[in-house]
Amino acid sequence: LFPWAQIRLPTAIMPQRYELSLHPNLTSMTFKGSVTILLQARQATWNIILHSTGHNISRVTFMSAVSSQEKQVEILEYPYHDQIAIVAPEALLAGHSYSVKIEYSANISSSYCGFYGLTYRDENNKRKYFAATQFEPLAARSAFPCFDEPAFKATFIIKIIRDEQHTALSNMPKKSSVSMEDGLVQDEFSESVKMSTYLVAFIVGEMRNLSEDVNGTLVSVYTVPEKIGQAHHALETTVKLLEFYENYFEIKYPLKKLDLVAIPDFEAGAMENWGLLTFREETLLYDNTTSSVADRKLVTKIIAHELAHQWFGNLVTMQWWNDLWLNEGFATFMEYFSLEKIFKELYSYEDFLDAQLKTMKKDSLNSSHPISSSVQSSEQIEEMFDSLSYFKGASLLLMLKTFLSEDVFQHAVILYLHNHSYASTQSDDLWDSFNEVTNKTLDVKRMMKTWTLQKGFPLVTVQRKGTELFIQQERFFSGRKPEIYPVDASYLWHIPITYVTDGRNYSEYRAVSLLDKKSDIINLTEQVQWVKVNTNMTGYYIVHYADDDWAALITLLKTNPYVLSDKDRANLINNIFELAGLGKVPLQRAFSLMDYLINENQTAPIAEALFQTGLIYDLLEKLGHMDLASRLVSRVHKLLQSQIQRQAWTDEGTPSARELRSALLEFACTHSLENCTTTAMKLFDDWVASNGTYSLPTDVMTTVFKVGAKTEKGWSFLLSMYISIGSEAEKNKILEALASSEDVRKLYWLMKSSLDGDIIRTQKLSQVIRAVGRHFAGHLLAWDFVKENWNKLVQKFHLGSYTMQSIVAGSTHLFSTKAHLSEVQAFFESQSEATFRLRCVQEALEVIQLNIQWMEKNLKALIQWYI
Ligand code: BES
Ligand code: ZN
Repeated sequence: LFPWAQIRLPTAIMPQRYELSLHPNLTSMTFKGSVTILLQARQATWNIILHSTGHNISRVTFMSAVSSQEKQVEILEYPYHDQIAIVAPEALLAGHSYSVKIEYSANISSSYCGFYGLTYRDENNKRKYFAATQFEPLAARSAFPCFDEPAFKATFIIKIIRDEQHTALSNMPKKSSVSMEDGLVQDEFSESVKMSTYLVAFIVGEMRNLSEDVNGTLVSVYTVPEKIGQAHHALETTVKLLEFYENYFEIKYPLKKLDLVAIPDFEAGAMENWGLLTFREETLLYDNTTSSVADRKLVTKIIAHELAHQWFGNLVTMQWWNDLWLNEGFATFMEYFSLEKIFKELYSYEDFLDAQLKTMKKDSLNSSHPISSSVQSSEQIEEMFDSLSYFKGASLLLMLKTFLSEDVFQHAVILYLHNHSYASTQSDDLWDSFNEVTNKTLDVKRMMKTWTLQKGFPLVTVQRKGTELFIQQERFFSGRKPEIYPVDASYLWHIPITYVTDGRNYSEYRAVSLLDKKSDIINLTEQVQWVKVNTNMTGYYIVHYADDDWAALITLLKTNPYVLSDKDRANLINNIFELAGLGKVPLQRAFSLMDYLINENQTAPIAEALFQTGLIYDLLEKLGHMDLASRLVSRVHKLLQSQIQRQAWTDEGTPSARELRSALLEFACTHSLENCTTTAMKLFDDWVASNGTYSLPTDVMTTVFKVGAKTEKGWSFLLSMYISIGSEAEKNKILEALASSEDVRKLYWLMKSSLDGDIIRTQKLSQVIRAVGRHFAGHLLAWDFVKENWNKLVQKFHLGSYTMQSIVAGSTHLFSTKAHLSEVQAFFESQSEATFRLRCVQEALEVIQLNIQWMEKNLKALIQWYI
């Protein structure tokens, strides 16, 4: 009988040090391992319970520190919880040390987690073998028996046997290399700092590197040999960011080396393993002739994110996955903060704004959850990796930083990191550090708990009467049908209210007050023409104004838009469209506000307008209302016409201007406006004539390829290029174009090939499904494909994982009929109970329901108003 019934491990036994030896065989996809774990008993017990899954355990020995005599012992297994139990030959006593040695063998995984293997073809089309790890959140246990929970920190000594021509890397610097027989070499790595199991990593394969010393830390970027030429940008970026973080946190990066490795096949975008960051090739490598400005931003952001984790996550770790946002929210916040400080020209706040707005859309659903929510099962843990942990977490930190000032914020962060280095924390520990710094002038914990322990966010309604501003809050709830979701009056947030007006202080933004009750009055002290609340959208809430106040803002946008920042303008567009969705504002008024765009020349507001109207277009198109859809396009076209005409097909300009160009020309080509497709077709023909060697402007490359992919010949040429080229940045652009085809046979082939993983890697599958599902020709097909291959998808990507969330959303979010709703519901109900209960499934059903409601509410208005 297994002596432990819970998912969480007991805490009577604490691991102190692991010595792990591995001998992988990359061609047979198996490995032999042995792990010796030094343990300390905290309470008396007979049992040592730890994680292990998929291991053939051949021998287990036990040793108490005093007797130093090895005894072979038996183990019990409980596969349902990935646990094994070692029954000790003697009672283990509190305060005493013991060690166990476990010898085992296992398969190298053919999925994307644990210790997994992959193959790729080199320049000469020769098959090459490569192995890497991805442990977060729950897969360290499949590589070696261990106490696989983040709070069980220990040190690690890792030894790996490899072929001569391979390189082995792990978290720490290599200590020694010993040649063995048969051309094998054993590398041993230095003992690690105290760390969580999910951060352990090792990689074996043929690699080259570029390196630079920063302050005693050797920074290296590793790639497969033929791609080392694309590593310069990453190295330069890492060096700058490492210096920035060391200064900002006032804690030196503690290891002697920092490796960044581009893995040829990788599920996530990147992973922050301590000292050994792993990436997809497309998120680390930068190719001068094919990477766009968006690609450059992506690489920079992802490096900034994973580096921030070296402090937030690695040095200080959440105790349990319920507080994952402490890791991911903070890393995401630091990612944009550091870019704002040292790569200001990238205007990364534009991306943040966009991500925050999309996250709020998700958070306004009933299926949302508080960012700190209790989790137990592996699906629940995987599900924590969603945009709420990342972007709601980051948005709340941005709101807090704005409220407290940059200095106070930094002090609290430094204090928190110092106090908890090499240990584990809960959200409360973070708020305690803030409270120590604010020194009782403000209870940050009380305030922030209203944001982390409640799902959703507030709708702040304001009404100006003379010099008084009446404000009140309620929960913003998408498409609430009172008969389905009753008003929940218990929701209350502590909201930092900021605003700008045309009064004396209009250009300065300050946190004027904390709204910590249902309603309040702010005294403006003088008569003003207009007021815009939630300055620069640093607050995580939506604002609704009284009629006159909306009118004043709309007039302002039409007469003098640049009085407001681009963030405020984007924010107003977003808020009014979201409110129209709720039925709080007539849709017509949202369009009337948007009319000011005729004078808009910045990226953020235009991008938001394209997003909001694009969503409506997508729904109308899928419902077959092509007349309405095209009239919607004409209306947007009219507003953006002069901007579109101003664009040249080049890579010139600031990053922000380049992204605007990319969005505008894509819009114009998609809807065959101006002479866009003609120009694009000509560029495409030149590119084909040069056999793909002519360098196209990178920011419009996807658009050019999409136009080219419309012909049979163009599509085939793109596919042949996809197979032969070595730039992942270019491949992604081609793949988008291939997936924009209207030929369902081609679309099906793309999804099928990506599932097989041979011509198109399986890591691209969610991207392919999303792209296919976006367009009219493919939206039903994408869903059919997901249904047909559901079991295979789950096997590859796991229930609840970020990839599965993306696949479910991407294949269902544009349905807006009752028939589709019941169809999607029926499918998931016919799967396992755990599947139907997945948050992403509940979310998909809710989104379809809301689409249906949106149409019920607005379709008539659209028809009448256009006719
Ligand atoms: N810790 C995550 C990687 C991860 C994601 C592990 C999901 C397990 C499940 C890493 O720090 C991360 O957040 N990666 C992001 C990229 C980031 C820049 C948003 C990713 O993979 O998308
Ligand atoms: Zn992260």
